[in-house]
Amino acid sequence: MTNFKSLVSGVGSLNKTKKYYNDWSKNYDKTLKIWNYQAPKKSSQFLKKLNKVRANNILDLACGTGLFGLELKKLYPKSIIYGSDISKESLKIAHTKNIYYDLKVNNFEQFNYQKIKFDLISLIGSMTYCKNVDKLFININKNIKEKGFFIFTHRVDLWEKQDFSNILKKFNNSLKIIKISRPINYLPLNKDFNNKIKIRMVLLQKY
Ligand SMILES: C[S@@+](CC[C@H](N)C(=O)[O-])C[C@H]1O[C@@H](n2cnc3c(N)ncnc32)[C@H](O)[C@@H]1O
Repeated sequence: MTNFKSLVSGVGSLNKTKKYYNDWSKNYDKTLKIWNYQAPKKSSQFLKKLNKVRANNILDLACGTGLFGLELKKLYPKSIIYGSDISKESLKIAHTKNIYYDLKVNNFEQFNYQKIKFDLISLIGSMTYCKNVDKLFININKNIKEKGFFIFTHRVDLWEKQDFSNILKKFNNSLKIIKISRPINYLPLNKDFNNKIKIRMVLLQKY
C-alpha cells in the first residue's frame, strides 16, 4: 500500500523511490486527478505564455506516466518527445499513451543521449527527488543544444531549505534564468499539501 503521507517528506533512497512509483503506477493518474495536480498544465501554460521555446527534440525527465508529456504534445504537436524515468511500471503506462518516440529507464542525474542534443528538457514534479543538483545541472547543460531550454518545477519549502536561488545563481553563467514564476498551487486537494506547499516553475536557457 502506498503511503501518500511520505510524499511531503520525500520517499528516501533511489530504490525506495523506484518501488514507490512502481507500486503506485496503476493508480497514479487517478489519484493525481483527485488531488487536482496542477504542475503539468500550469507548466505548459507557462511555456506558452513566455513564447520563447521552439522545440523539435524534447526530453521529458522523470516523465512518469506521461502527464506532462501529454501537455507537451498539445503545445508542440510536431516535436519528437523522449521520456525517461526510474519507474519501469510508470513507463509502461506512458507507453500506452502514444506520446513518446522513445522511453528509457534512467536516473535523471545520470542520463546521456550521446547522439542527440535537445531543444527542451523538462523535469516536472520531480526536483524533490534530486540528490545532487550540481550533477543534474551539469548533465542538463551537456544534453541541451546551445540556446536550448530547461524547464522544471520545485517546491517552495524545499527551495528555501536548499537556498535554491543561490544554486541557480551559481549556474547562471551556463544556464541563464529566463523566468521564475510566483508560487502556485501544487496538489490543492491533497490534505498534506493543499495551500501549504506550493511550487515555482522555472525556465532556464543555455548560453
Ligand atoms: C511526482 S512524479 C512526476 C511524474 C511526471 N513528471 C508528472 O508530472 O506526472 C515523480 C517521478 O519522478 C520519478 N523519479 C524519482 N526519482 C528519479 C530519478 N532519480 N531519476 C528518474 N526518475 C525519478 C518517479 O519515478 C516519478 O515518476
